[in-house]
Order: sequence, then C-alpha cells, then structure tokens
Amino acid sequence: PKEKGWAARHLCLFQGFWCPSAFFQGVINFQKHFQAKGSDVIVATVPKSGTTWLKALTFAIINRQRFSSSHNHPLLTSNSHELVPFLEFVFHVDNIQDKLSHLSNMTEPRVFGTHVPFPSLPKSIKESNCKIVYICRNPFDTFVSHWIFANKINPHSMHELTIEETLEKYCKGILGFGPTWEHMLGYWKESIANPNRVLFLKYEELKEDVNFYVKRVAEFLDCPFTEEEESNGVIENIINLCSFEKMKNLEVNKSGTFDRNFEKKHLFRKGKVGDWVNYFSPAMIEKLSKTMEEKLGGSGLSFKTSS
Ligand code: A3P
Repeated sequence: PKEKGWAARHLCLFQGFWCPSAFFQGVINFQKHFQAKGSDVIVATVPKSGTTWLKALTFAIINRQRFSSSHNHPLLTSNSHELVPFLEFVFHVDNIQDKLSHLSNMTEPRVFGTHVPFPSLPKSIKESNCKIVYICRNPFDTFVSHWIFANKINPHSMHELTIEETLEKYCKGILGFGPTWEHMLGYWKESIANPNRVLFLKYEELKEDVNFYVKRVAEFLDCPFTEEEESNGVIENIINLCSFEKMKNLEVNKSGTFDRNFEKKHLFRKGKVGDWVNYFSPAMIEKLSKTMEEKLGGSGLSFKTSS
C-alpha cells in the first residue's frame, strides 16, 4: 500500500512500517549489504525525538580521546548528522561496492544512525555484538516537532492537511518510519531482553539529567569515564558542546543542508519538554491519549509530558 505522507512525502508500507519512498532503495540496500562490525555503535531513533542531540553526544563520548581539545572538535565544524550518518541514507547509492569498501575502512568504532525499526534491521546487525543506543520522546512533543518540521521542509504543503487531520494519520501510524508505537515497542522489548545490546533512552529523561545519561551511555558503550576525566570536567565539556543553545548557534548549523536537502537550521527549534500544550486542543489531547493507552498500555512504557 502507498500513502501520501505529510508534507507531500510519499510513503509505502514495507515490512510493517511506513517507509518514505525517497529512502526505499537505501533501506533495501542497507538491509541487504551492510556488514556490521562488533565494535559498531548504532544510534537508532524515532524521527523528531532527539536524534541530532543523541548523535552528537554519542560521537563526543566515543571520540573524547581523539578530540580532547575543545576548540578543534569536529562537532564545531560539522553537523552531527554528517559525523553520524543515517545508514538508510548512506546506502542510497547506485555503486554499492565503493560504499562498502569506504565503510570497511572507516576508523573504529564506527558510529551510525538509523530510523529503521528493530525487526527490519539487517541480520548482520542483529547477529553481531554491536551496541544500539535508542531514543524516543513523548508522542505529544514528537508529533508537534514533526508537524512543524514537515511544514518547514516543504512549505508548499503547509495547508495540505490540518493539524487535526495530521494527528489522525499519526494515530493510525502513518508517518515516516511509523507506526511510532511499533517502533518504540520493538526497541523497548529488545532492550529488556538484551540490556547489553540496546540502551533505551527518553528525551525527557535526558533533559532532566543529562549528566547521568552521558555517564550511562559511556558505561553502556564500555568506555566509562575515569575519575580523572570526571574531575577534569570532561563530562561537562561534552554536555556543553552538545547543548541545544551551543549547537543551534554554530555557524555550521545555521545554514546549508544535510541528507535529502533538509535545511540544517530546521533541526533546532525549541528543544523543550511540553511545548505541545501550545498546539493541542482538548479533542486532540483525548485522541492521542486514547491511542497511547491502546497501543502502549500494559507495555510498561510511559512518558513525562511536562517539564
Ligand atoms: P522541537 O521541535 O520540540 O524543538 P531530531 O533531532 O530527532 O530531528 O529531533 C528534533 C528535536 O530535537 C527538535 O525539538 C529540536 O529542537 C530538538 N533538539 C535538537 N538539537 C537538540 C539538542 N542539542 N538538545 C536538545 N534538543 C535538541
């Protein structure tokens, strides 16, 4: 089945998820050709749930010894999506052999991103020892962030659907890499079954105590901070380098595009928990709350919706 997604992005139902047709070939190539290494780190996310932030944090944590001086850090001159590319985008190429040899020569540990749901990840990832750091976010804020982003990246479609109609689609799971519920539950279940393989994070929790989660991610990736690093302010430096204000105001993030010509500046909007209250009517609150109860009730997965 095919659906017209938001902002005129076409979606096709593939292996139970709505794949943006622009990424379809990339997803198939990624599944078919990617050769995972045991040292790989995969940042897996629901779109608009803090991908840009988690990619930056993970890159900075892993590479903290390579780039110990804060004034020439790659995150000051490159966007985190450039440093930690989406695998479905990396594989959106015709010449697979060149891509594979480039990937196999990359410095280890390699860090990649993906929006692909857990059941559809390549076998080679599932069968290797690589680590997956996952982030999602309360669906109220994720929806608003997505709605605004979709309209910004394609202003011609601004008035194609109302926010209420778009929420109807969201609740039915019709959006890129949706249904969101299945996406979250797939990684959630895997994180419970295999806690050494999948670390499950929530945007709200990171916002509340980023220091704790930076340490948690480092431990999970088997590179915990030493006491010396802690007392030398290494954790604080990483947090500051990846903070919303810092990243938003970098020249590299103010202009230019990434991946499929998305403008980088649209990646940084408010970066807050609870902004949804400015967009939801009582009927919309009821609709989404009911859907969440139906889809997530009993799973043990719940979210904070205000700061
Ligand atoms: P808002 O639209 O609510 O402001 P993604 O990176 O997955 O596309 O998610 C985008 C959301 O993360 C946006 O939320 C954006 O503002 C926020 N964001 C981007 N960089 C961030 C950072 N460094 N820290 C916290 N939030 C950030």
